[in-house]
Amino acid sequence: MKSKSKAKIKVKTSLKVLAIETSCDETGIALLEASGGVRAPEFKVTANLVASQIAIHRPFGGVVPNIAKREHLKNLPLLFAKIKKMHKNFTPDIIAVTAGPGLEPALWTGIEFAKSLAASLNIPLVGANHLEGHLYSFLLPGVRAATKPLSSSAARTRAAALSSRAIFPAIALIVSGGHTILLKMDSFSKWKHLGETRDDAAGEAFDKVARLLNLPYPGGPEIEKLAKRGRSDAISFPRPMLHDKNYDFSFSGLKTSVLYYMRDHRDEVNIADVAASFQAAAEDVLVKKTLRAAQQFGAQSIMLSGGVAANKTLRARLKKEAGAIGCSFFVPDVKYNLDNGAMIGVAGYMAYLRKKKYPLVANGAMNI
Ligand code: KG4
Ligand code: ZN
Repeated sequence: MKSKSKAKIKVKTSLKVLAIETSCDETGIALLEASGGVRAPEFKVTANLVASQIAIHRPFGGVVPNIAKREHLKNLPLLFAKIKKMHKNFTPDIIAVTAGPGLEPALWTGIEFAKSLAASLNIPLVGANHLEGHLYSFLLPGVRAATKPLSSSAARTRAAALSSRAIFPAIALIVSGGHTILLKMDSFSKWKHLGETRDDAAGEAFDKVARLLNLPYPGGPEIEKLAKRGRSDAISFPRPMLHDKNYDFSFSGLKTSVLYYMRDHRDEVNIADVAASFQAAAEDVLVKKTLRAAQQFGAQSIMLSGGVAANKTLRARLKKEAGAIGCSFFVPDVKYNLDNGAMIGVAGYMAYLRKKKYPLVANGAMNI
């Protein structure tokens, strides 16, 4: 990769982005071509390499921050060497790196690596917000078709379909291992926090319930797999805060109900029924509150992102319900739901154009 002088790139809206993600247990490096500006952004993913540490953390039942740090330090130069070899002619204009939220020892590895790379290539380094990465991930190629036609004109391009007019106001649900957030978006750069979890995040609830069922980490995919063999109406677990007027969530009571159920039915428990019934309860609250927000704010579309959005029943339910109220539905390809570098490239590009300067220090508690 050749170096570029800072002077040349000023406020160009077409940029080549090298992106780095190390907030948790996936090391991600991606190369993207971004264009269209803040109002009609478009992305072409040239490469998106992810080194997963799941197998290393699995024996501990969750992510161990110092092991994550060690693995990122090992993986970053390997992934970078690989990506450089595969794409010799890709000359990045900017580097984007996750500044937060996440595990601080893990975040620092990416930030330090990105700093020295930006210095050696003499190009700007942009701090990216991991949650904005999830939020914008629906913009990555492979975006699922909307449930209703966005335009009668068949010639209409995807870029036009994603123009501000077609999708805003929108309701965005971010569901990951650390966050559960509902936003009302008025544009790609303006949004309002409607609600968030008051205790456990949705993904955390999946992980904790999986542990109660003796399933390995991460629990989400395991629960989803097991739930296919169970009945979702077998056990009526609570739907916390479903009828509250606000848009906050709570999942720790639901997890405790599963714990009590397991304790009280030790000899006759059907874990597939428990998985299916728990999944239905968690998804009921997520889907219904998102729908209520969409109706209250007259949303044109609903977006779903974060690791839990990899769950097929959640995707299918939200898509169906969105269609029923005339909303378009956007969810990225599963590989962009889970932590990856490409989504950080999108967040970095948008932050750069929005002149949103996230300090280049690890900020574990960064919000959106
Ligand atoms: O976004 P992500 O990769 O990392 C964070 O930013 O937290 O999300 C990871 C979370 C984990 O809690 C994992 O159990 C959950 O996403 N997850 C799922 C599924 N795949 C991953 N939850 C439910 N169903 C899935 N298929
Ligand atoms: Zn994430």
